Parts: sequence; C-alpha cells; structure tokens
Amino acid sequence: MSANAEKPAIGVVGVGWVGLVTAACFAGLDHRVVAMDVDEGKVETLRSGGALPMHEPGLPEVVERNRERLRFTTEIAELLDGCRLLFCCVDTPPTYSGDADLSRVAAVVSQIPKGGWHALVMKSTVPAGTGAAILRQRPDLAYVSCPEFLKEGSAVHDFLEPDRVVIGAGPGAEWAADAVAEVYAPLDRELVRSDVASAEMIKLASNAFLATKISFINEIANVCEGVGADVTEVARGMGLDERIGPKFLHAGIGYGGSCFPKDVSALKMLAGNTGYHFQLLNSVIEVNELQKRRVISKLTKHLGSLVGKRIALLGLAFKPNTDDMREASSLVLSARLQGEGARVVAYDPVADSHAGDLLPSVDFALSAAAALEGADAVILVTEWPEFAELDWEEMAQRMANPLLVDGRNFLDPARLRRAGFSYEGIGRPSNGGPPQSDA
Ligand code: UDX
Repeated sequence: MSANAEKPAIGVVGVGWVGLVTAACFAGLDHRVVAMDVDEGKVETLRSGGALPMHEPGLPEVVERNRERLRFTTEIAELLDGCRLLFCCVDTPPTYSGDADLSRVAAVVSQIPKGGWHALVMKSTVPAGTGAAILRQRPDLAYVSCPEFLKEGSAVHDFLEPDRVVIGAGPGAEWAADAVAEVYAPLDRELVRSDVASAEMIKLASNAFLATKISFINEIANVCEGVGADVTEVARGMGLDERIGPKFLHAGIGYGGSCFPKDVSALKMLAGNTGYHFQLLNSVIEVNELQKRRVISKLTKHLGSLVGKRIALLGLAFKPNTDDMREASSLVLSARLQGEGARVVAYDPVADSHAGDLLPSVDFALSAAAALEGADAVILVTEWPEFAELDWEEMAQRMANPLLVDGRNFLDPARLRRAGFSYEGIGRPSNGGPPQSDA
C-alpha cells in the first residue's frame, strides 16, 4: 500500500466501553470506522455529539477529533457493505450459572453473510472454545480472536499502548489475522500470533491471574492485621522482586468491575464444563466476597451495634475515573450495612446517577463534606483523587464520631490520626479504640 493509500474501512459491532474506544482509536489511526449498536438512543446520542454514555477520561476528545471518520448506525448492513473486518465488541454478561451469555455474539454471527468476504474479529471476552463452537456452525467464516486488555479509566491509553496485541487465527483466516496485524502496526507493539483457543485462554488466564494476585494480597493483608504488620510495606517489599512485580498488589475491599468477577467465574465454569475442578479460583472468588464484608467488623469494633448509626460511603464506582457500578464493592457493602440496621449516605463524584437505581434506600449527598455531616463513621470505598485533597480536620469536626475505614489504603494514616480520626486500613496497624496521638 502506498503511503497515501486510503486505509480499509473497519466495522465495530457493539458500542459499549470496549467498542467505543476501539472505534474511536481505529478512526484515530486513519481508518474509516462504521460502529453499530442495537441501542437506538445510544447511537442517536453519539451521532448528534451528545455526552458519551460512559465516563472515560480522554475518550470524548478522541471521538470528537476523529468524528469525520466515525459513523454510528443501528443497521448492520452499513458495516457489511464495505468493511471486511468486523470487530465484535458486544457484551457477554454472566448468566445465573456463571457461564458467559453469548446470545449477543450469536446474533452478530447470524447476520454475517456466507461467502467468506468478511472476517469476524472477536474482541468480546468469551470462554475458550467459543471460536471453535462458532466455526462448527459456520465453517465458512473467517474468524480471528483479538482479545482486548484495556482498563476502564485509562482505556484510551491502554488501547493505544497495549503491553501486547494477541491475534489468534481460525482455519483459513490467516489473511484476516494479517489484516488485523496491519491495523495495529502503527502502534508498534509486541504481537502474539496464535490459534483461536490459545488467544481466548490468554485473555481469561490474564484476568484470572490478576484477580488471584488481588485476592492473594488481600489474604496477606488479613494476616498482617493479626501479626501487626503493614501490608503496604509488605507489598512494596514483595513487588521489588522482578518475578512478582509491584502491580495489582494493592490490598483493599475487593475487586469489582465488568471483567474480573465475570472472567474468573467464566474460567471456573469453563474448567468445570471440561471436567476439571479449578480449586484455586473458588478461593479467589470467596476471598473477594469476604473481603467486602470484613469492613463491618472494623466498624463494630469501634461502634458496637450499627443499628441506627449513620455510615458515610466515599466513592461508589468499582474504581476511580469511571462511573461504572458493575460488581462494585459498594453494592455489597451498603446492603450489608443496611442489613446491620445502619443508615447509609453516599457520595461519588460521577457514579451517583448510575448508582441511584441500584441503591434505592441509600441517601445521596452532593459533596463529601455533606455525606460526612453527623456520620458515625466513614468508609473510603473508591480512591478518587479528590478524597486525598479533603480538609480532614474539618471533616472530623463535621462527624458525630470521627472513625474512618480506608477500604483502599489510600490515605495517610498519620495525617488522618493528626486530624482526629480513628483510622482503620486494610492490613495496616489500627487504632484499637479512640484516636491516638502520633507521638
Ligand atoms: C480489568 C483488566 O485490568 C483489563 O486488562 C481487562 O481488559 C478488563 O478488566 P478493569 O476492570 O477496567 O480492567 O479495572 P482494573 O484497573 O483492572 O481493576 C479491577 C478491580 O480490581 C477494581 O475494582 C480495582 O479496585 C481492583 N484492584 C486492582 C485491587 O483491588 N487491587 C489492585 O491492586 C488492583
């Protein structure tokens, strides 16, 4: 292709988090992109330049910058006409059994015409074996697995600077895998070319491993509490070992989000369906569930019964820089607190609008300060940077009882104690009772 030749048009099916980032970033790489979604309202908003359906730093700018190469539609025909590569980015939520719901993927496959001109490039997270199952139904289909590893909150950066790009080609789909590699070539990243099943496993195994790392450090944190160690120091010391690495060793009140809970569960189910009992993942899931609940005993240690107590939650989203509430620890935590008879008041800088329906009996405050007014305890649930900037002396004055449970080990315990708080972290030395001096 000459330097000035127009790049091939790309189709993207599903304009959720992964789909919209994919579409906008490919447009930024000079491809014309036709992005399709069945949600008419969402498509209309994207067409008219309205606010994006999710909070993702930097994404509105990428969409705007590349708008002339981006077309949004509800009609799959508009993709099929002109786009050979169809990136499938529809969601695959867990079913009641823990298996992934592949009905949206199946709907996409059924709409791709026979003849082999198009290629389906799977970006949605699917259980290993999905590609093979699709190809049994549609042996004519050029199928490529190209899992996405982006993180919400840093999605644009992660998409454009991935640690690796995984491309698994189905039988007869080498041409399509080459075309996908060509699309990613400007990013100049490490390519992993493989078969479809291996590519699928790379995604599931990576997410399950990261979730395991989090549950592991959370269990270490729980042991630290018993022996008076500080898990943040322990993690730092562990992370300097290059074989371990410092990332995903932050102890807290458990992982959430649209990927880890779903993918760990999907891998466990997948193993079970092939007759293998994935023992380790059962523990990863159980530790994560218990971790959310351990906060309650940290509160009762100071407050006794929680009946009638006013408990403030700072942050609701499953992590900062997103408004995503899927599998957020705040959901379990607020329900548990209410189960103990507490009154829950919450503040999140962006997730409030999504959270309202999910947390019908929680009071929403318009600021952190308002949430803390008259509270018997505050739990830092999501480590939004603005919470580090609060005037904690003033916050202590506002509360009926200045007790803080730092669910993300985000704040400086010494500073909080100086401000008058009883500080409880996760796996850090705590105040047994009333505020201590730092002497
Ligand atoms: C994750 C994967 O990182 C990404 O590669 C995949 O594509 C999708 O799933 P995401 O869910 O956006 O991304 O968020 P991530 O930053 O990985 O955090 C997941 C959860 O783990 C959050 O709830 C976070 O608070 C928690 N976490 C993360 C910890 O509790 N401790 C850590 O050390 C890291």
